[in-house]
Amino acid sequence: MSGKASAAPRAATPAASPHRGSAPGAFGPGKVILLGEHAVVYGHPALAVPLSLGVTARGTPSQRCELSGLPELTAAQRKMLDSAFEAVASATGRPPLSIALSSTLPVSMGLGSSAALAVAVSRLLLEAAGARTSPAKVLALALRMEEAFHGTPSGVDHTVSAHGAPLLYRRPVPGRPGRVRRIRIGARAVLVLALVGPRRGTQETVAALRRRAARWPERYGRLFKEMGRLAVEGTAALEAGDLESLGDAMNVNHGLLAAAGVSSPALDAAVDVLRRAGALGAKLTGAGGDGGAVVALFRKAPPAGVLESAGLRVLTSELEPTS
Ligand code: PMV
Repeated sequence: MSGKASAAPRAATPAASPHRGSAPGAFGPGKVILLGEHAVVYGHPALAVPLSLGVTARGTPSQRCELSGLPELTAAQRKMLDSAFEAVASATGRPPLSIALSSTLPVSMGLGSSAALAVAVSRLLLEAAGARTSPAKVLALALRMEEAFHGTPSGVDHTVSAHGAPLLYRRPVPGRPGRVRRIRIGARAVLVLALVGPRRGTQETVAALRRRAARWPERYGRLFKEMGRLAVEGTAALEAGDLESLGDAMNVNHGLLAAAGVSSPALDAAVDVLRRAGALGAKLTGAGGDGGAVVALFRKAPPAGVLESAGLRVLTSELEPTS
């Protein structure tokens, strides 16, 4: 598969767009985590940017509040979606709307499809319920859906989706508030996203890592702290337009994620192919585990076909400098 997704803040700005004369619609963009996944669960910062690929929710008046679409979901994913939808439908008083979902994002690849869905559906339900759609309300409702999908998500995915902008994100932890900082992009770059393959759910990979971290807290605590420092350093590099430094931080972060046990031979192989194709940095993105996606940073897109001929399915995404 190949496609073009823009991670430029302006191109990815999510729209809650009541289209005149057609069904009202809302969009939630996907995201790619450049630095800091997993550590973000433990209160360390993560750097993520939105994609222009995402999920659209369209509503038509109906007798009941119901949801359809996304035929590609498995029975287990559909069941999870139904219970997540139930939570937000009842929280918004079940507005009489039949919501049809469509997605340009690959599902279960670490590109934030569940968060994009949660943001699109939450926006639409809030509008249909006649509520003022403030970002805080969208975030709170989308979090309820994310919790149904992932248990205790850090919140980075749906926060980036709801803001539609590159963020340095830190979740609140007991005794310390969270922090969301919009960041500047200091240089044009291309992100190549290699879709390595289906994987187990985020919740499972996060839980397995949590068990290791609970057993050896100091060892894993050191890894998480270093991942968070890389996110802060990589953010400064991206804002300054220092792509070499950002790429190096991504390479080091991949090594730490592998050390934490969330990479796989297929993810490592894709990282290797992308680095040999000239990436300034490459790492797994999202939960990883036994599949998912790799993100690689390039100054310019690598020649068409080079990656596909190495057997990689890729999407490209541009980072546009902030004006
Ligand atoms: O569900 P994914 O693959 O987009 O991963 C989310 C990122 C994690 O840090 C692994 C989990 C979280 O809740 O932040």
